[in-house]
Amino acid sequence: MLPKKVPSVKGVFFFGHALEFGRDPLTFMLNIQKNYKRFAQLRIVHLKINLILTAEDAKYVLQENNKSFIKGRAYRVLSMVLGNGMLTSNGDFWHRQRKLAQPAFYKQRLALLVDTISDETNLLIKNWQGQLAESNGKKTVQIPKEMMATTLKIVTKALFGTDIDPEKIEQISFDIDELNELASIQMRTPIRLPLWIPSRFNQRFKTSSSRVHAVIQEIISTRRNILENNPNAEFDDLMQMLITAKDEETGEQMSDQQLKDEIITLFLAGHETTAMAMSWALYLLAQHPAVVQKMRNEIKEVLGDSTTPHYDSMRTLPYSMQVIQEVLRLYPPAWAFSRQVLNDEVVGGYLIPKNQQVLINTYILHRNTAYWDNPEVFNPDNFLPEKIKERPTYAYLPFGGGPRLCIGNNFALMEMQIMLVALVRHFDFDPIETVIPEPQITLKPKGGMKLRVSQRC
Ligand code: HEM
Repeated sequence: MLPKKVPSVKGVFFFGHALEFGRDPLTFMLNIQKNYKRFAQLRIVHLKINLILTAEDAKYVLQENNKSFIKGRAYRVLSMVLGNGMLTSNGDFWHRQRKLAQPAFYKQRLALLVDTISDETNLLIKNWQGQLAESNGKKTVQIPKEMMATTLKIVTKALFGTDIDPEKIEQISFDIDELNELASIQMRTPIRLPLWIPSRFNQRFKTSSSRVHAVIQEIISTRRNILENNPNAEFDDLMQMLITAKDEETGEQMSDQQLKDEIITLFLAGHETTAMAMSWALYLLAQHPAVVQKMRNEIKEVLGDSTTPHYDSMRTLPYSMQVIQEVLRLYPPAWAFSRQVLNDEVVGGYLIPKNQQVLINTYILHRNTAYWDNPEVFNPDNFLPEKIKERPTYAYLPFGGGPRLCIGNNFALMEMQIMLVALVRHFDFDPIETVIPEPQITLKPKGGMKLRVSQRC
């Protein structure tokens, strides 16, 4: 049978769907999901984007035929910030870098990071307790800001063995926000002004980008200085693996530029996503006291009064993990990711012509009624083992899939679990306002997210 043409969604003359992408891409694509079955084609001026609507086709693109679908245009935009690191690169180069970094994320190594994560979480708890004591036991907290600061400290300490100067945290978070916003605008714009043109956009981009790069350079230089002054110094972290790794065949080590690209990738991919996921988790828990109670019962039963979790005890808290999985279903921080097809390919009976883009939107896939009952409802029981078995694996992709699966997925889940368990143990959270998601590079709370935090009664 001849392959079918992907059905186009009607757009306006010239711009296509640029306005919908700019205004509210989540609702726009949710509506498309209701009216199309497998694929729908969208257009931003001349750029054609084939939206994948089924788990089966997502699996084909990400796993079964992954070599034909490479990281394309969107990742070229990201590489303006991240360079040619693991997230943005392709082919043999990507494969080599991934192999070098992978051992840092093995389970036995992650187990060594539990204390670092707990220590930083405890500092946050102490800080909030101090503030609550000064304000009658209740306080309004801008949650994403606090989550960003904590996950930033965790990632630098856990992966790069260094502390971040506390005075710089606010500035870095601001710069990351800027880059997030600017890169997402750029992704929706078919034409890219070269960076040397002094537009306001380019100026903002260059200022924030150079400040973040300076932080990364400092992290690398600190380590290099220690090693130069004390060649016997021993480090057992990701940073050291990347510095000392040698190509099996050529014996070559990473150049300074490659090292910098990988470090900035892990630094950015490794904390903003988790911070957003933690913020959405607290937002949802603030609205679902029964879920919080069930979590607390489990925590009490498993951990008793012990406040120092270890890797295995965390695995014995299945309900809190279900909560996290459900948060990542409703608010997947990496809400969409794309691929570019190398040659004409047929997917699910539809022709995807050479060089076109395919888009997987996890925000809508995670709400597809073919896979989820009452998808808008927050229900951690969606992740009971028997429920997971009923669904195709690729209906749930918060960390992507196939060989390009997020390298930090287990790290992120462990980090979230330790943080969340500790926070619900100590505090009550109450909603203040309705927060809507804003899809930039990550799924952020539009205009921030305030919650009322009080000492647990
Ligand atoms: C809740 C937190 C996180 C979420 C939701 C998330 C999500 C994702 C997704 C969806 C991808 C695949 C993108 C694609 O296929 O195009 C990805 C890739 C990646 N993530 Fe994560 N991530 C998280 C945390 C982390 C952490 C903690 C790290 C590192 C410490 C990390 C590092 C990376 C890297 C390096 C890649 C590229 C992997 C490759 O292509 O080989 N992420 N992430």
